[in-house]
Amino acid sequence: MNLKELKESLKTDSIGKKIYFFRQINSTNEIAKNFANNGEEEGTIIIAETQTHGKGRLNRNWSSPIGGLYLSIILKPKLLPNYVSKLNLLTAIAVAKTINQFGLSPKIKWPNDVLINRKKICGILTEISTKENKIKYIIVGIGINVNIDINLLPRELQKTSTSVKNELGLEISIADLIIKLLNEFEKLYDIFKKGDFIYIRKEWKKFSSTFQKNVKVITKNEVIVGYAFDIDEAGALLIKNDKGIKRVISGDCIHLKE
Ligand code: BTN
Repeated sequence: MNLKELKESLKTDSIGKKIYFFRQINSTNEIAKNFANNGEEEGTIIIAETQTHGKGRLNRNWSSPIGGLYLSIILKPKLLPNYVSKLNLLTAIAVAKTINQFGLSPKIKWPNDVLINRKKICGILTEISTKENKIKYIIVGIGINVNIDINLLPRELQKTSTSVKNELGLEISIADLIIKLLNEFEKLYDIFKKGDFIYIRKEWKKFSSTFQKNVKVITKNEVIVGYAFDIDEAGALLIKNDKGIKRVISGDCIHLKE
């Protein structure tokens, strides 16, 4: 990756002001947590060319071959911890808008998978540290299959994954992708900090493949089946069924056939 090109072309105010780049590390989220604990400021980002222990949601692994983007953002917003789900949505929207700029048509599957033609192209893992109900820091980890040949991924993921290269039939500049991504992220993050949820909800509806679908959401404690008709101010998915309306903060979502 061309770090010089990246630093020179980045026009953001705070996101990416400081960039740490590693050829290989265990997990950018783990390093980001370490750095955040040691005083790194809001907006610092950690990028790796490859990860040995990339982490996915729900304790899964995130396969991280060279050619992908593995990036974590350190955030220290002065907000209450229950804003995290919204940050998840916001990040998925930023990724979708970025990938869209390369001529692709991404969709967001709730909570924060970005898909193309129902195949996963990006995963987001947001981790939070709190103290006395205040946010110490939030790490937003983003993994995008950019210039990856799908056959480099574990066999069980090959049918359900895609990459930018796979979709476009050519490789793109990862530095260019990062510049666009951090720009989109900063714009949405500023809107989010101002408390404007209307715009975020509108953008979510535009990109969401879950909105207005019959879904089955599996959470830690229950399985909810119903019609996903909106998200609320906290970023929870609102599902309507014959028992009423259910709010779901996190879980695995399956779209049911109409
Ligand atoms: C998912 O399960 O869909 C979330 C995957 C998140 C992967 C990214 S890659 C950069 C950052 N560092 C990690 O270890 N995980 C996240």
